[in-house]
Amino acid sequence: MAKSTEHFSCQSCGASYRKWQGKCDSCSEWNSIVEDGGKQIVPKGLSSGKGRQLEFTTLDAEKSDYKRHFCGVNELDRVLGGGFVPGSSILIGGDPGIGKSTILLQAVGLMAKRGYTCTYISGEEATQQISMRAKRLGLTDSPVQLAAANSLRDIVTSLEKSAPPDLLIIDSIQTMYADNLDSAPGTVSQVRACSQELIRLAKKLNCALMLVGHVTKDGQIAGPRVLEHMVDTVLYFEGDRGHQFRILRAVKNRFGATDEIGVFEMTDMGLQEVANPSALFISNQEKDISGASVFAGMEGTRPLLVEIQGLVAPSQQATPRRAVVGWDSSRLAMILAVLDARCGLSLAGNEVYLNVAGGLRVNEPAADLAVAAALVSSISDIPVPEKSIIFGEIGLSGEIRAVGQTDARLKEAAKLGFEAAIIPLGSKIKDPTIKIIEVEHLSEIVSLFTREKEAVNA
Ligand code: TYD
Ligand code: MG
Repeated sequence: MAKSTEHFSCQSCGASYRKWQGKCDSCSEWNSIVEDGGKQIVPKGLSSGKGRQLEFTTLDAEKSDYKRHFCGVNELDRVLGGGFVPGSSILIGGDPGIGKSTILLQAVGLMAKRGYTCTYISGEEATQQISMRAKRLGLTDSPVQLAAANSLRDIVTSLEKSAPPDLLIIDSIQTMYADNLDSAPGTVSQVRACSQELIRLAKKLNCALMLVGHVTKDGQIAGPRVLEHMVDTVLYFEGDRGHQFRILRAVKNRFGATDEIGVFEMTDMGLQEVANPSALFISNQEKDISGASVFAGMEGTRPLLVEIQGLVAPSQQATPRRAVVGWDSSRLAMILAVLDARCGLSLAGNEVYLNVAGGLRVNEPAADLAVAAALVSSISDIPVPEKSIIFGEIGLSGEIRAVGQTDARLKEAAKLGFEAAIIPLGSKIKDPTIKIIEVEHLSEIVSLFTREKEAVNA
């Protein structure tokens, strides 16, 4: 076996190097290479027969039959795939002040009231500050074990000595430090070491662990990317600070579906669950507003109606502005190009603004058609047909492609009082509850607006 002498490795992708360098050749990350300690990546003599014999079981082993704990915040339980799995670790990330500490305090508060042992360890706030918040949330009578601590050693010692909790919250992982490492709290090596130790402890005590993670300015969870691999579940708590709505999104879940969302509203009594989010994201539409369409989207398994607003205005500038809130700007550029090339509708001399109402972020290509309708409606100053929803993906030749879960989208629309739906031709509908208008090409959407105008002028 060739003897390996590399002893530097990239913290971001794991590539090994013989000497330090500023940029990793394999993942192009800067400043991610650190000395790795051991001179040999694979120590010699592993096959000497000194290891312990593993016991193999089958997939239906009884051990896999775990019982989940419900915390009582229903939206959180649902995003987790039906409550907390004992021994699992969950990472929750989000912008500062978005409400991570609040939702976790509410979760432990409700859970402890129902007889579970819950421990909340904060490295950011003093216990008095947390009690003040608990008072506002009406949770002071809940028997939560609360502590303010930063030292990993203190936390591990205390937890190993007392009865293990059912749920352990660490707020936040960036404020914890292991005193056997030289680096400051929040650095890659500290975050990795602390998480590893806490995850090991959670497995040993069979308690659910919830770590709060800070995010960097581009929205990723700060610290090593490996953190997301180490935990079982990664949740993001997002929302616009200017709006009250907060969305909890699972991006990784070993024990449930991802892309599931929970919707909350931030009030002066903490975070309230929103039972009917669709009603929230559609403004009280006055009749006959041009430049707005209602998109029937899907967030995980749940249909969600949102209003998409477009504005096309003449521009004096050489490069007119295109501004997008809540949607992908390259997707908008594509739709503008298709409108130009396939439908002869050029917006080159115009500024284009696009906004998804309510602070929601839409990622589905199915929103293409709703975006196009909002823009064309803004140009022609003709409103989208009243009480209608719209969805469909636009292809580069201008064709409208069918999207999944048509029935769920239509059902949600019918539930909220919509009477018509503009959808791709060839969608498989089982039971149409509302009037269906099928479209095959983007030019039909364009002519939908021009034809009406002629009828009005006539
Ligand atoms: P917090 O949970 O401290 O955010 P994070 O831990 O993600 O940094 O949330 C703080 C924000 O929430 C703060 O701006 C005030 C607001 N808030 C309310 O509006 N109502 C409440 O009842 C509470 C507790 C907080
Ligand atoms: Mg906090």
